[in-house]
Amino acid sequence: MRLRNKPWARDYMAEHPDILLAEPEKMNNGWSNLFGNENPIHIEVGTGMGQFIIGMALANPDVNYIGIEHFDNVIVSALEKAIEADKPSNLRLFRANGMDLSTIFHKGEIDRIYLNFSDPWPKTRNAKRRLTHETFLRLYEEVLAPGGEIHFKTDNRLLFEYSLVSMSQYGMTLGSVSLDLHAEMPEDNIMTEYEEKFSAKGHPIYRLESRFEKL
Ligand SMILES: C[S@@+](CC[C@H](N)C(=O)[O-])C[C@H]1O[C@@H](n2cnc3c(N)ncnc32)[C@H](O)[C@@H]1O
Repeated sequence: MRLRNKPWARDYMAEHPDILLAEPEKMNNGWSNLFGNENPIHIEVGTGMGQFIIGMALANPDVNYIGIEHFDNVIVSALEKAIEADKPSNLRLFRANGMDLSTIFHKGEIDRIYLNFSDPWPKTRNAKRRLTHETFLRLYEEVLAPGGEIHFKTDNRLLFEYSLVSMSQYGMTLGSVSLDLHAEMPEDNIMTEYEEKFSAKGHPIYRLESRFEKL
């Protein structure tokens, strides 16, 4: 928990328990109960300052969205943006390590996982921290419903290549691979903060979709 630069963050976060959940691992009744409907649940691991997940929640009211971020001083910015957006009822945020997904969600409870501009952890000794490492794939497989998908975007070519290999070796089916998403720019693409920053610098954006079932 890093709050060095934002000493006010903890109190501010505690004031908005309706959208920023303090104890997500205690959601024993299931997330559909929390949202009060049976709509699909899509999560973003490493949500950062929240532009993507909030944009998705506003654009798709029939999907429930959950943004998960490791650090308080980052997720507090997502909270600020969610408040500016009038707290969409289909959005929740919480601070957690993606490593804890299986203690927070029931088996098969999630319909889609977004990984956007995940930290590349370039040194081999840190490979286990990459969100597309086999250890994480195993967790995603547990919480994803049959037919559930992972959607991954990055500007980092090495992380993209690593992820293609990691998912293929795990036995996943890959689809919709793009080596320059912005050349196609699908109408429904919602940009993340990092995507805006790196595409403005001329970096190509790589994207893939994957699933655990064989086609
Ligand atoms: C490079 S930033 C990208 C943020 C955002 N997705 C975007 O595209 O603008 C990666 C974010 O993932 C978070 N993160 C990294 N590893 C994580 C983990 N294991 N669990 C949760 N969040 C994580 C970091 O704290 C950071 O905020």
